[in-house]
Amino acid sequence: MKKIKIAIIGIGNCASSLIQGLTYYKNVKDKQKIIGLMHTVLGGYKISDIEVVAAFDVNGTKVGKDLANAIYAEPNNTKVFAKVEKTGVKVYNAQLLDGIGEYLKDVIHVSKQTLVDPIKILKDSGAEILVSYLPVGSQKATEYWANICLKAKVAMINCIPVFIASDKTWAKKFEEAGMPIIGDDIKSQVGATILHRTLVNLFLDRGMPIDHTYQLNIGGNTDFQNMLERSRLKSKKISKTQSVTSQIELQNAKIDSNDVHIGPSDYIRWLKDNKVAFIRIESRHFGDVPTHVEVRLSVEDSPNSAGVVIDAIRCCKLALDRGIGGPIMSASAYFMKSPPKQFTDTEARKNLEEWIQKYS
Ligand SMILES: NC(=O)c1ccc[n+]([C@@H]2O[C@H](COP(=O)([O-])OP(=O)(O)OC[C@H]3O[C@@H](n4cnc5c(N)ncnc54)[C@H](O)[C@@H]3O)[C@@H](O)[C@H]2O)c1
Repeated sequence: MKKIKIAIIGIGNCASSLIQGLTYYKNVKDKQKIIGLMHTVLGGYKISDIEVVAAFDVNGTKVGKDLANAIYAEPNNTKVFAKVEKTGVKVYNAQLLDGIGEYLKDVIHVSKQTLVDPIKILKDSGAEILVSYLPVGSQKATEYWANICLKAKVAMINCIPVFIASDKTWAKKFEEAGMPIIGDDIKSQVGATILHRTLVNLFLDRGMPIDHTYQLNIGGNTDFQNMLERSRLKSKKISKTQSVTSQIELQNAKIDSNDVHIGPSDYIRWLKDNKVAFIRIESRHFGDVPTHVEVRLSVEDSPNSAGVVIDAIRCCKLALDRGIGGPIMSASAYFMKSPPKQFTDTEARKNLEEWIQKYS
């Protein structure tokens, strides 16, 4: 079986967890269960078939270093669960564009190293898929890299809440280029979004309305620090909100936009990559008698989505192998918060399993 060659843009906490995972699970047996993956072997591909061949960032603490060192460099602060050996892959300097926001301009010191031609690097490295882990609010940088993917004929997995796969114009461009894209905004294995969606579906399945609901999130990583800048998190808020309200609409129920509040709420440095979510749902049962539920979820943010990305990479490779271009609908619906079309998570999983079966 061939390798899956990936490039990564943005060597932050999420990239660190993903790359650590490739080491941590390097020697698993085919029948061994891996926590967080749909299948140990998916479409014939194992986790050890994934190879990072190119990497880009802008931070002086990471650019020029071997990827194995860059993933532990400041301000990355996620849990270290694997010691990654030297990879031989150097982190290249990338165009800054709108990558660094107001609250990180004193934290990230931009590299002064020469800018490279990303298309040449992608082509020379043999990269087939670009995984984007750019910071939240990087609209211009995301569009810049989406264009590079189209020019270099590289597929894209857009893990960030900037709408590309779910935007009709961009989706068409990927379709015309014959390049698959899975997006937008990665879901976690069990994170605030999926928990909130599941609770909403539970209430609705039992005939109970969602009268009011909120989801407040706090954390101490640079993603949360970035989100202090309210204008940067506009699309994140839309993505997270739609991910939950879509479930209400799918059940032919309604909620007024004034009765939903979903979004990040504060940055608390000492929490590091620990994210804490508070979810409340107010409802009524028989006789219009009020009832409510309060949930507090505590997760390590970055490893929580790394397994989902491993599955997305293998599905993207299956699409490449079969010559399928454009947004991969079933994979986007199951892996992403803002896919081109929303389904319930149970339906999305069923559709994706059928898709994998069909193309394996
Ligand atoms: N579970 C999760 O952690 C999760 C879930 C959904 C979405 N996301 C999204 O994934 C993205 C990455 O999250 P993270 O926690 O790794 O963030 P991070 O802040 O740790 O990493 C972002 C990296 O991008 C680099 N960068 C900034 N501007 C750049 C540019 N122009 N070009 C190249 N690199 C640039 C930064 O230096 C940093 O290394 C965020 O947008 C986040 O919202 C994460």
